[in-house]
Amino acid sequence: MAKIGICYPKFSLRCLEVLFFLFIQYFLQWIKLIEPLIFISILTCSYLHLQAKEYRSKMIEKINEAVIYLRSQYPEKPVAGIVLGSGLGSFTSAMTIEKEVLYSDIPHFPVSTVEGHVGKLVFGSIAGNKVVAMSGRFHGYEGYAASEVVFPIRVMKFLGIRSLFISNAAGAVNPTYKVGDLMVITDHISQFVPNPLIGANDPQLGPRFPDMSEPYNRNMIREAFNIAGKASIYLHEGVYVAVTGPTFETKAEYNMIRVLGADVVGMSTVQEVIAAVHMGITCFAVSVVTDLAIIEPGHNITHEDVLKAASDAEPRLTHIFSELIAGL
Ligand code: HPA
Repeated sequence: MAKIGICYPKFSLRCLEVLFFLFIQYFLQWIKLIEPLIFISILTCSYLHLQAKEYRSKMIEKINEAVIYLRSQYPEKPVAGIVLGSGLGSFTSAMTIEKEVLYSDIPHFPVSTVEGHVGKLVFGSIAGNKVVAMSGRFHGYEGYAASEVVFPIRVMKFLGIRSLFISNAAGAVNPTYKVGDLMVITDHISQFVPNPLIGANDPQLGPRFPDMSEPYNRNMIREAFNIAGKASIYLHEGVYVAVTGPTFETKAEYNMIRVLGADVVGMSTVQEVIAAVHMGITCFAVSVVTDLAIIEPGHNITHEDVLKAASDAEPRLTHIFSELIAGL
C-alpha cells in the first residue's frame, strides 16, 4: 500500500528550509542596506560620548590651571569665599589683605565689564580665618555663559573654601521694604536664568541631580539674625528671584515677580549658589535693596542709584559678613 501521507511533512520541511533561507538572504540584504546607518550611529554616539568626556575633563583642567596659578601667588588655603555685588566692593577694607590678583592675570578667568565691579581676587584674613573675596563678579547680561559666570566659584572650591558669602544689589517687590534695607535670602527662584549645571555633569564637581531644598544654610541665617540683633541692624528675610537683565523690569514684570512669591529681584547670585550647592559649599547671601519696584510715575531707576544705595548699606553688610566669618 502506497504511503502518500509521509510526503507532506517532508514537503513542508523543505518549504520551511527555503523560507528560512530566503528570510536570511533578505535579512542580510536589509542589514547591508542599513549597515552604513548602524555604522554612522555608532560613530555619532562615540563622538558625543567623547565630546562630553572631553568637556568634563577640560572644565576640571581649566579649574586646575587657575588654581595652580593662584597657589603660586598665594599658597594659603582660604576657608570662605565672598562675592561682592555692585557697589559693595569696599567690604575688603574689613579684611587684612595679604594678596590681590587681577582677574585678567588668572588663566581662564572672565573679566568683569560692569562699572562698580573692580575685577580682582582679594586674599587675606578676617579674625584669623583665611578668606578669598571676589571684588567684581560676572553676569549673564555681559554675554557670559552660565558656566563662565560660575567658573570663579568652582575655582574657589578647588582652592579650599567650604562656605560662600554672597552679596547683591536688588530691587524690592515687597511693598514693606525700603531703599537701603538688607534682606537675608532664605530661598530663590532660578527659572528665568540658564541653569549653570546644564550639559555634561562631572562627578568630580557634584551629582547630576543636586538637591536644592535648602540652598541657603539655616544655621548661618539664624546666626546672622543674632549678630544683627546685637548691633541693632534691621534685617528682612525673603525670596530672591533672578532675571537676566540688563533691563530693569517693567511694571507688569514687577507685579508678576511679586505674584510668584518673591520679595526682591536681581541679576546675579542664583547661578553662583547653584554651582556652590552642587559642590557641597554652605551658602549665605544678602540682598541690599537699592530700588523699589513700586515707584512713583516719572521716577526711573538708574545704575548710579543702585551703586549709591549699595554703598550706603555696605557697613551693615560688612558687619554681618565679618562676624559670621569670625565664627567659622
Ligand atoms: N531689578 C533687577 N535687578 C536689579 C534691580 C532691579 O530692580 N535693582 C538692582 N538690581
